[in-house]
Amino acid sequence: MINDLQTQQKNRQPLPETTLDPKEFRQALGTFTTGVTVVTAQGLDGTPVGVTANSFNSVSLNPPLVLWSLARKSQSLAAFESASHWAVHILAHDQNHLSGRFARSASGAEKFDGIEYEGGLGAAPLLSGCTTRLQCRTAHIYDGGDHIILVGEVLKFDKCDTPPLVFQSGNYAIATSTAQTVMPPVGEDPRNVSESSSLGYLLASAYLHFSAKMREHASELELNDIEYLILNALGTREARTYHELITLAAYTGRCVGRESINDLAARGMIRIDDEPDESSSPADHVDHSHIYLTDEGKVLVTRIARESQQVEESMMQQLGVPETIALRTLLSRFVRIHSPLIPYRWF
Ligand SMILES: Cc1cc2nc3c(=O)[nH]c(=O)nc-3n(C[C@H](O)[C@H](O)[C@H](O)COP(=O)(O)O)c2cc1C
Repeated sequence: MINDLQTQQKNRQPLPETTLDPKEFRQALGTFTTGVTVVTAQGLDGTPVGVTANSFNSVSLNPPLVLWSLARKSQSLAAFESASHWAVHILAHDQNHLSGRFARSASGAEKFDGIEYEGGLGAAPLLSGCTTRLQCRTAHIYDGGDHIILVGEVLKFDKCDTPPLVFQSGNYAIATSTAQTVMPPVGEDPRNVSESSSLGYLLASAYLHFSAKMREHASELELNDIEYLILNALGTREARTYHELITLAAYTGRCVGRESINDLAARGMIRIDDEPDESSSPADHVDHSHIYLTDEGKVLVTRIARESQQVEESMMQQLGVPETIALRTLLSRFVRIHSPLIPYRWF
């Protein structure tokens, strides 16, 4: 290891006290979007140490060098200053719990408690499930104000296709490409759909395209829209009442007629239990009769669930993994904000 820190510290010219507002300065730096890493090493006493760091960056391809900076006040300072090797874990989009765990000011033993890891080069702990892991030999350590800057030579790395976690202005995020790589179909006006189209138009178009695919699937199973909706609703929770199905269907602007229920019953898919609820009066007991899937209905519902998942997967495959995750995240947030009354997974 070439430890330049002591030489640096001897020659260090004290810089004048800053006049920058620390909070605003931190916020300004936070606008620089980064990934999130956990850097690990073996501590002096043999226990593992690990720190969440977004100061990681690439330095050189040949020789392969990377850097990150560690606060001088870190409990792990001595361990990293003396470690011959350390491992950088570029966290995957679903690993913010690891980021939180290694950002706690706690002993290495506490941070690693309950976590499985294997020993890497120089006995640096290797965590699993990350987007990329880089095993490094300490090449240089420089002074960096209230931080030290560690430069490592990358000796080994492995990576997978899981999208990385992103850190932006103090929040975890996921990155999606803004490149318009999908060409409009031949003959379609390219102005039809773009990022500047109104949100209502985009949501409606997405819904129509998606439901058209689902409708194809329903008609292959000889089900009309209403029957498809009824079976899906019973698939998520049985013993719904006719009244309940009407209420659920109303969210889609559709109307469940008694004939659809009777038709599905005649086809042996559902069973209507006409026993009135104790709470209901005889006059409305038809509306309140409970509807169950028959064994045949259950088989069909399982098939619907499996095949609609395949339709969804093939559509999402064309979109890409990070984009699908981002779409799900944003849509679920959108629905939660704007449709708080929609029943949980109602169809
Ligand atoms: C997203 C994120 C990025 C961070 N980046 C750094 C960093 O680059 N360097 C650093 O010293 N601390 C960084 N921290 C803070 C440390 O992870 C935190 O201070 C940790 O408690 C240090 O552990 P230790 O004192 O047990 O060594 C970051 C925290 C978070 C949540």
